[in-house]
Amino acid sequence: MTVYESVLDAIGGTPLLRLKKLGVGVRPRIYAKLEFQNIGGSVKDRAALSMIRAAEQAGLLKAGGTVVEGTSGNTGIGLSLVAAQLGYRSVIFAPAATAAEKVRLLRAFGAEVHLVADFVPRSHPDHLANRAAAFAASTPGAWLALQYDNPANPGAHFAGTGPEIWKDTEGAVTHFVASVGTGGTISGTGRYLKEASDGLVQVIAADPEHSRYGGGNGSLKYTEGAGHPLHPASAEDIWPEAFDTTLVDKYFSISDRDAIFTARRAALEEGLLIGATGGTALAAALELAATLDESHTIVAVIPDSGRNYLSTYFDDAWLTSLGFLEPTTPDGTIRSLLTGAPAGVHLLANGLTAAEAAVELHTRSLGPSEPAFLVLDRGDSFGTVHPREVVGVVTLESLSSVDDAAPAASAAVAYRTVAVGVPASETPDLTEVAAVLVDGRIAATLR
Ligand SMILES: Cc1ncc(COP(=O)(O)O)c(C=O)c1O
Repeated sequence: MTVYESVLDAIGGTPLLRLKKLGVGVRPRIYAKLEFQNIGGSVKDRAALSMIRAAEQAGLLKAGGTVVEGTSGNTGIGLSLVAAQLGYRSVIFAPAATAAEKVRLLRAFGAEVHLVADFVPRSHPDHLANRAAAFAASTPGAWLALQYDNPANPGAHFAGTGPEIWKDTEGAVTHFVASVGTGGTISGTGRYLKEASDGLVQVIAADPEHSRYGGGNGSLKYTEGAGHPLHPASAEDIWPEAFDTTLVDKYFSISDRDAIFTARRAALEEGLLIGATGGTALAAALELAATLDESHTIVAVIPDSGRNYLSTYFDDAWLTSLGFLEPTTPDGTIRSLLTGAPAGVHLLANGLTAAEAAVELHTRSLGPSEPAFLVLDRGDSFGTVHPREVVGVVTLESLSSVDDAAPAASAAVAYRTVAVGVPASETPDLTEVAAVLVDGRIAATLR
């Protein structure tokens, strides 16, 4: 039995678990690295402890000091846990959409939590990183962890996660799969495994579908904690220094649906309650495994537990409300009202004038009351959109009611979103446009 003298000693040293059911039929061995077994519940405990220790050694964090960070949750949980043990105050800035469970955990470990705007350009003062930096700058004794650029973040994985995997697989690991948030996990672990194996271990980034890392356009996603979204108004696309992209041999692009439903399968089939970034890594590992044979051993990182997401990924009502689940109902669902091909969603760049938008809608032969969505301008790489990227809905009729030179957005009409699996009997009043959500994205309109 392991006996710890300090809770901080219970960070790291996580087990590997062979996945026999999810991986049934595939030829390589697949192991999950169970990072939710860390004392604060996630892989980020390692980075938190390592960054705090490095700051102490560098004299940046002293007795009575305050630990500050902008984080989607897990790093904050790790930092607040370690800070409390070492006698520091912790102040955490987190996006408003952070799962409620994580916010409660932060508070349970004594953090002061500030929820901030979700999706604003990096240069905006309300951006998470800027809010945290401003707070740290105006607070005596404050130290800002800066996990995205802090070398002690990947350093924790070079010193811990990598050697653990090498030792526990007795050097048999051939492929390492991890999702990428700051890039700390994949970079530190990947570098260690490549060095230990003379470059033989392949490093695989499992990336949410729209993430910039894997070449997506930066649109928002539901997989919390990994990937790199980009607000279109951002002047530049800044990637973390903690992420050493030269280590990545291959990216797998994983949809929110695959991430979430692979996490749910892991709970049912393997008894592993994991979050969607663990689902992302396992979905990539399974796709990869189909291309490999018995000589290969895959290790996939499970960053945190599904307990963080009982009100989201593991809640059928939440999934249904976003169009990820479609319950069977006697009268059918909204989907049955989408006759033939989905009506087609017309997207227009926000920022057009009313006259420009009208020309565009004429070109597309839209009728006077057919809706088009004004969305954050991504040049011409719109793809599909997340509802938070919609600025408003216009029609030729509404555009004709404002000045030609006025912003098209000033002609916005009322609209609402409705999930594709809502019973047809609950069809919204169609005096306003209804945007139909499938897998959390706007896929059709009802009028
Ligand atoms: C749930 C979850 N998964 C994955 C990651 C990515 O880890 P890293 O920042 O080491 O790339 C994070 C990071 O915050 C996370 O919270």
